[in-house]
Amino acid sequence: MRDAHARLHGRGRARPGRPRNRLSAHVPRSAPVLSAPLTPLIGRDAEVGAVRDALLRLDVRLLTLVGAPGIGKTRLGLEVAGALTPEFEHGVFFVPLAPVREPGLVASAIAQALGVHDAGRQSLLDSLKVSLRNRRLLLVLDNFEHLLAAAPLVAELLAACPGLTVLATSRAPLHLGCRRWRCWWSGRGRSGPSLG
Ligand SMILES: Nc1ncnc2c1ncn2[C@@H]1O[C@H](COP(=O)(O)OP(=O)(O)OP(=O)(O)O)[C@@H](O)[C@H]1O
Ligand SMILES: [Mg+2]
Repeated sequence: MRDAHARLHGRGRARPGRPRNRLSAHVPRSAPVLSAPLTPLIGRDAEVGAVRDALLRLDVRLLTLVGAPGIGKTRLGLEVAGALTPEFEHGVFFVPLAPVREPGLVASAIAQALGVHDAGRQSLLDSLKVSLRNRRLLLVLDNFEHLLAAAPLVAELLAACPGLTVLATSRAPLHLGCRRWRCWWSGRGRSGPSLG
């Protein structure tokens, strides 16, 4: 479990003699500590594999786990994020959005998870774009459903940052344009992801 957390938070992946990334001065490789699941993940092997495989495709930039409350979207997202950490050179970062009250605060929640600070001269969104522009990184945006008005901000980040992949969990779709960004998975059925 400790390993899974270390992976999820991007620790323990430094290569000797090589800086972790060129933008580490802007984005420290750390994220808020998550509480470890106390119980094992049950009956989701196929979904974990399918979502992981989809996110490894370079043409899949956004995948949203959609489903009713309590169906296990966050839990599945965490499992996949942990499994994928070795694949993302600049790490996997978890952004808990459930406590975020309004869409206008989403950029700040992402910045906080990434350790990006307001540069003063530019907007926080622009600071995020600069920091993420040359990175291969997975951002997990958890519980997006009450912040759907901020979905265009996610699209803007994806457009500006070619190495960025987003895994979102939401009770409702983000409606960002299937063809352009996303692979869709609905937690309502037992079916795996289908590419949009
Ligand atoms: N496959 C699973 N195996 C074991 N526990 C699970 C599984 N799926 C979900 N759970 C547990 O069920 C509870 C609800 O899951 P989770 O929080 O992931 O749901 P959710 O779909 O994200 O809900 P919400 O829409 O409210 O955010 C959690 O305690 C989680 O650990
Ligand atoms: Mg959730």
